[in-house]
Amino acid sequence: MRFWSLVLLSCLAACKREPTRPSTDAALDAANSGDAALASLDGAALYGRLCAVCHGEDATGYRADNAPSLVNRTFLESVTDEQLKRSIADGRPGTAMAAYGSVHGGPLSSEAIARIAGWLRAHGPAPIALPARKVGAPTRGAPIYSAQCARCHGTATARGNAVHLANPRFLESASDAFLAWAITEGRPGTPMESWRGKLTDEQIDDVIAHLRALAKPPAPQELAPPTGKEPMVIHPNGKPPSFKPRSTPCPPNTADAGKPPCTPDERFVSVEQVKEALEQKRRLVIIDARPPSDWMRVHIPGAVSIPYHDLKRLDEVPNDGTWVIAYCACPHHLSGDVVTVLRKRGIRHSAILDEGILEWHRRGYPVVAAPGVEAPPTENRGAPALFPPH
Ligand code: HEC
Ligand code: HEC
Repeated sequence: MRFWSLVLLSCLAACKREPTRPSTDAALDAANSGDAALASLDGAALYGRLCAVCHGEDATGYRADNAPSLVNRTFLESVTDEQLKRSIADGRPGTAMAAYGSVHGGPLSSEAIARIAGWLRAHGPAPIALPARKVGAPTRGAPIYSAQCARCHGTATARGNAVHLANPRFLESASDAFLAWAITEGRPGTPMESWRGKLTDEQIDDVIAHLRALAKPPAPQELAPPTGKEPMVIHPNGKPPSFKPRSTPCPPNTADAGKPPCTPDERFVSVEQVKEALEQKRRLVIIDARPPSDWMRVHIPGAVSIPYHDLKRLDEVPNDGTWVIAYCACPHHLSGDVVTVLRKRGIRHSAILDEGILEWHRRGYPVVAAPGVEAPPTENRGAPALFPPH
């Protein structure tokens, strides 16, 4: 009991699947060799290297950050190739799903994205002709959405644990027919039930009209891409910060004879402590472990972009006791990989930004953001978990 209550306390609602798994050494070695290697990989290898960390090796989802299944039958039969590729290229701003397309500063060319989409496609049915829909009335859809859907899918300003449907990038590429298919057929094997017979066709069209009214247009602009020359150390002449890191909770019964004792790993530093260190002009390194496209939307001032898929710049991180904090969206997986590599290199004073950058941004802590970028929707900590922790 105590163990799980600690895990729950330490974990944000949208990131239920703790404790996190360490990446395979092979994936980390590949990342050390940089982005050039990506061009030559086939769809399966690209997927394994960039996507499996959240969507799972077999793409059935929920490895981390409540990333959905990408191979569910009703998803594959309703998603067009165009929508699938756009979802990967454009990402879902304000969530853990980064824009992977090189047009946004991500690591993948459109050919590489097509190879991943092809690999996903091979796991299920080809697109079918979907029934056409009528235009519904948002005012009639709103109360249905609040009563039936919001507890999992959230509202415009607060999220639940399931896909955030009020995301403008999502609604741009998802047709009414695609949305309606998910609602009438559900996503078998997941908490998304079929609403056929529970909502009328007209009510479904009304809910879709309401969803479309929820989404604000995405911020059109991006910051200039990272040059790779941004200075590594923030406040090089400052005093070291006095961080008090949190450790991964010990599993129960480690005191049993024969088992090694659980030593505190001191892997996590809270957003408050890092904000205070910046205010006090302390010497530190902050690494943004997300794809550069995310850094180009919003990052912590002074953070250098060292994405989890291209760790070359880690060679420049000083190994002289300077504190190194890595962060990602939500909040431990990609940054965790970076900290694992840093510690293997003997950089002990390295830790994960515990709550991640989305929480940092929500709290109104300082950020460098492209014009028009707003703080992400709040976490709904009371939202039902989609799957029990395992
Ligand atoms: C850090 C975690 C993470 C990584 C890495 C990641 N994703 Fe995602 N992805 C998500 C989340 C979370 C969502 C849903 C967004 C939300 O919460 O609203 C998502 C959504 C998607 C969707 C839309 C699915 C739908 O039902 O509409 C596609 C397609 C997708 N991801 C593909 C990929 C591919 C391909 C890769 C690798 C190139 C990848 N993702 C890497 C977390 C991730
Ligand atoms: C118990 C939680 C829950 C409820 C309630 C729920 N959903 Fe879902 N929904 C999910 C999950 C989880 C998924 C993603 C499943 C997967 O991994 O394929 C999903 C997927 C979807 C998708 C597809 C999104 C995509 O990107 O592919 C749509 C559209 C959707 N739901 C609409 C609705 C609507 C409308 C309602 C209310 C009538 C509703 N849902 C109620 C959990 C829920």
